Amino acid sequence: MKYEQVRSTDPAVADALVGERERQENTLAMIASENHVSEAVLEAQSSELTNKYAEGYPYERYYAGCEYADEIESLAIERAKELWGAEHVNVQPHSGTQANMGVYLAMLEPGDKILSLELEHGGHLSHGHPANFTGKTYKVEQYEIDPETGYIDYDDLREQAEAFDPDIIVSGYSAYPREVDFERVQEAADATDAYHLADIAHITGLVAAGVHESPVGIADFVTGSTHKTIRAGRGGIIMCDEAYADAIDAAVFPGAQGGPLMHNIAGKAVGFGEALSPDFKKYAQQILDNAVALGDRLQEHGFSLVSGGTDTHLVLIDLRDSHPDTSGTVAEEALEEVGIVLNKNTVPGETRSPFNPSGIRAGTPALTTRGFDEAACEQVADIIYRVVDNPDDEDIKAEAASEVDELCTEYPLYDREGSLVDFE
Ligand SMILES: Cc1ncc(COP(=O)(O)O)c(C=O)c1O
Repeated sequence: MKYEQVRSTDPAVADALVGERERQENTLAMIASENHVSEAVLEAQSSELTNKYAEGYPYERYYAGCEYADEIESLAIERAKELWGAEHVNVQPHSGTQANMGVYLAMLEPGDKILSLELEHGGHLSHGHPANFTGKTYKVEQYEIDPETGYIDYDDLREQAEAFDPDIIVSGYSAYPREVDFERVQEAADATDAYHLADIAHITGLVAAGVHESPVGIADFVTGSTHKTIRAGRGGIIMCDEAYADAIDAAVFPGAQGGPLMHNIAGKAVGFGEALSPDFKKYAQQILDNAVALGDRLQEHGFSLVSGGTDTHLVLIDLRDSHPDTSGTVAEEALEEVGIVLNKNTVPGETRSPFNPSGIRAGTPALTTRGFDEAACEQVADIIYRVVDNPDDEDIKAEAASEVDELCTEYPLYDREGSLVDFE
């Protein structure tokens, strides 16, 4: 029985932990930034390393007793170098946001200028939103997605960069379904003598597997989250050339963080090890194939997809054409009722509000981990269509919920002993 120890001392937390475990098992996780890590990653993340202080870096720590912490952090770094081909890697950022913070802190002064994609067009808070430290510390100008095509217009981006003269240009996004042309962003950075930060939080796994162009070797800095498509322990990562290594390391610790979360770094090491296996390439390709199958079928049902499709792990559905009276919030809530968990999302040229936007975003990384293939993703698209088309019809929703139940049984997360099934 899982969580027996917690149950004996803290039944309230044990109930919630079991509830979450069952929720993940009995629903379809389609939030594009989520995934299911393996049993091995879970075990490493809940290890005794949570107790250990290891301020500093491998073999140069401020505390005694770090021999195993050193070994594990070195393994995480070496595996990351092999996965992404970077010269220097820092695996200590507590999250993707902290990874970005490390880069800004290392390279910018307060008041310096960031050029990044607007949040409502698919950017991220940590790229300069007024509510985030970046918006409060730096001067920010933002580029937009072309509302006609749904793509980034790299010529416009360059023009905007030449007019704004930024210190850093950020590429890499939260809700952009198309392959990013890092070379084109780099051209804009070169033209304005700006740094280029490629934030591959969402696509770390796709880049590592070679199914999305890599910014390593193009951008000055590459950051990411380690728990999304790469399916490792939760946290962040920074990659750069050796020339920036000292500045980046000093910005992460002691600049922005204290002791590293060594248990999470152990989870990163294990997950990176798994991603080095040839099976991971198949997994990453299947994520893409599934997203294309999902998107094509949604379009057959009359949905509009931003940019007309996807090259990545996600589709962004603009409900305004097909369902003008249904907001992303209504769609998200109706789908959650039937066990499909995804998120409402703004779309380029948004006409509603961020709290009640016109779109929904759906990703395939977690479904693919469960073993979903294209046919299963098409079935999910059919269910999404029926529910979004009839968000108040209880009979249709009950039927959809039982179909979702069947899919969860057909593609289980746990085996009979209660362990996560082996992921390939
Ligand atoms: C592009 C991008 N950058 C950074 C982050 C932040 O990652 P974290 O939640 O690990 O801080 C996200 C999260 O989804 C993201 O999409």
